[in-house]
Amino acid sequence: MRTQVAIIGGGPSGLLLSQLLHCKGIDTVVLERKTRDYVLGRIRAGVLEVGFVNLMREAGVATRMDAESFTHDGTCIAYGNTQFRIDFKALTGTSVVVYGQTELTRDLYDARQAMGGQIIFNTDNVQIHDANTDAPYITYDAGQGEQRIDCDYIAGCDGFHGASRPTIPDKIRRDYEKAYPFGWLGVLSETPPVHHELIYSSSDRGFALCSMRHANLSRYYIQVPLSDGVEKWSDAAFWDELKRRLPDEVAERLITGPSIEKSIAPLRSFVTEPMRWGRLFLCGDAAHIVPPTGAKGLNTAASDIHYLYNALIAAYHDKDIDGLAHYSDRALARIWKAERFSWWMTNLLHRFPDQSAFDLKMQRADQEFLAENEAAQKVLAQNYVGLAY
Ligand code: PHB
Repeated sequence: MRTQVAIIGGGPSGLLLSQLLHCKGIDTVVLERKTRDYVLGRIRAGVLEVGFVNLMREAGVATRMDAESFTHDGTCIAYGNTQFRIDFKALTGTSVVVYGQTELTRDLYDARQAMGGQIIFNTDNVQIHDANTDAPYITYDAGQGEQRIDCDYIAGCDGFHGASRPTIPDKIRRDYEKAYPFGWLGVLSETPPVHHELIYSSSDRGFALCSMRHANLSRYYIQVPLSDGVEKWSDAAFWDELKRRLPDEVAERLITGPSIEKSIAPLRSFVTEPMRWGRLFLCGDAAHIVPPTGAKGLNTAASDIHYLYNALIAAYHDKDIDGLAHYSDRALARIWKAERFSWWMTNLLHRFPDQSAFDLKMQRADQEFLAENEAAQKVLAQNYVGLAY
């Protein structure tokens, strides 16, 4: 088989890139290790920057998103019983959009299917060959023995555990990593959200987040030790702990119900450099991970897709390979700033096991300064709504 751009990974990044390129007449094949249902079963974040929304529109897959998403002009931050609001719209002129990753991935699958896009599921043993030459190819097994795809370029959109990143030789690649000593326990419940905007809450008992998917679907999180498993947390224990980490006024209004999903995710910051090796381009989680505190996971993947998509268009349509040559530098320049923001938000709001009394005073001073200072709020708002591409 031959295609122009082989895309490894059928999550939102790979599908969005495939759809965008298809609209410009560039042929792609997407390889996905799991099934469509598996991909759609993963619950992920739901806050989209304008840049992401614009890419969905450019790809012609924004109809349902535009109809069913919610615009958020701000967010609440709480510490102890104090609450304040960051007004994104007033401070930056921009808002964010709340629309679940599961939903937008479904929209992308539907659009790819409607256009006859090639997605090969259940691909095992994916291997990238000759990425550093002019004739790269991929081999894989989807149940009928080894198959081969020859291509011009390879987009590695296959996540943190995928085959793409390790294809870049160790002597060329450098990984930067920070693991945090806690995870987030997330619960999805068919209950009305406690507030129409998100609430990020820092308490003596640890961090909590009130988020949502729509009018009757709430998403809540609490910081938990890495040693905890989900089985340790009954629904009752979760709701009880969540309430204790929210301002009293919010806790009193919280409507609880049975959880329909419950999972724990560790928090990690990770970046690999470079993001390009020859004709292989890493995108999204394959190259970088952020802790979820700033809602930047999907949004950092989107900026990679933006740079790669535009670079590929220039290469195919104008024979201009400058964008491809500079892909790694351009993507990383933005990624590191999103890494800094996510790391800062995480430090601002979580309890760390080794925090001294002094560290706690510094954290509280940071929170109070943010609550009182418009310039500090503007910095948060600019980062939260998303830095320019
Ligand atoms: C979510 O809704 O799942 C969510 C929202 C904001 C975050 C992280 C997760 O910062």
